[in-house]
Amino acid sequence: MGRLRRACSSRLLLPGAVVFGVALGGVLAFGVGGANGLNQSQRSYGDSAIRYYYPPKSYIPAGQALFETFCSSCHGSDGAGTSRAPNLVGVGPATIDFWITTGRMPAENPYAIQAPRKPAKLSNQEALEVAAYVNSLDPSRPAIPKVNLKDANVAVGADLFSLNCAACHTITGAGDELAFGTYAPSLRAATPTQVAEAIRTGPGNMPRFSGNLTNAQVADIDAYVTEYIQHPTNPGGFALGGVGPVGEGFVALLFGVGILALVGYWIGERT
Ligand code: HEC
Ligand code: HEC
Repeated sequence: MGRLRRACSSRLLLPGAVVFGVALGGVLAFGVGGANGLNQSQRSYGDSAIRYYYPPKSYIPAGQALFETFCSSCHGSDGAGTSRAPNLVGVGPATIDFWITTGRMPAENPYAIQAPRKPAKLSNQEALEVAAYVNSLDPSRPAIPKVNLKDANVAVGADLFSLNCAACHTITGAGDELAFGTYAPSLRAATPTQVAEAIRTGPGNMPRFSGNLTNAQVADIDAYVTEYIQHPTNPGGFALGGVGPVGEGFVALLFGVGILALVGYWIGERT
């Protein structure tokens, strides 16, 4: 863990640079999108695209028993962490649900640089139970997202993805290596809930996107990942029509390159 922690703090620069590029890109993308006739005010960027819920308190006893069996050996019976694993008190239910349902937890090797996605050992129901228990130690956000993709716009999602996510995951979502043996994983296996959880909680070296993406924007990105990337031949279709492909592409290019330049500069500094 000592090695992991040291590597983590020296890696803060990379997410920092990316977040900066992303924020800048987001602001300009809105300007260009508006000028292109993508009328943001016609789209509901309110809260209805995602509903956040807490698992019921009645799940706590079952969750506590599961935690004792599967988690306490590394995270401690009180969840406060040990030399083998970090503190979980106050991380919020979405974080617990993400790490369990993606199979990252329980970890097999606590000394790995990054816990890999693998087949989940606990069921979705058990993940909610553990989340209820950990949340009872210190009730926190984010709660678990339930994403409504019905009104999501895949084309807008593609733009937002290229600005906010592609620098690490690549535009096809295939994933890529990052510094120090870490990697941004492929996005082919993530469910809509897991995509929203990753965006809202920022697992590992991924930045957390909270105020800078609305729920509707998260749903748009989610639709791009789970409908387009995961099913590229989906006859539902993927068209950038109507949002001004030239302007949008220009923004994506400009800021994609900007982000890559920052990342490149940073990697150059380190080696
Ligand atoms: C074998 C040891 C081990 C076991 C067992 C284990 N963990 Fe972990 N856990 C770790 C390590 C090590 C990390 C840090 C991994 C990383 O950053 O990639 C971690 C990270 C996490 C995180 C991310 C914390 C954060 O703030 O980013 C969560 C959530 C988590 N574990 C939950 C659980 C739950 C719930 C269980 C039981 C179902 C569990 N873990 C079982 C070792 C373990
Ligand atoms: C700075 C690089 C970076 C950026 C930018 C980034 N991610 Fe990630 N992402 C990661 C890393 C690293 C992980 C793995 C974290 C871990 O397991 O410790 C990850 C994990 C994920 C996962 C989990 C995949 C799985 O199957 O387990 C999803 C989903 C995801 N990211 C989606 C996104 C989306 C959507 C965006 C844009 C809004 C984004 N990411 C932006 C680095 C990044």
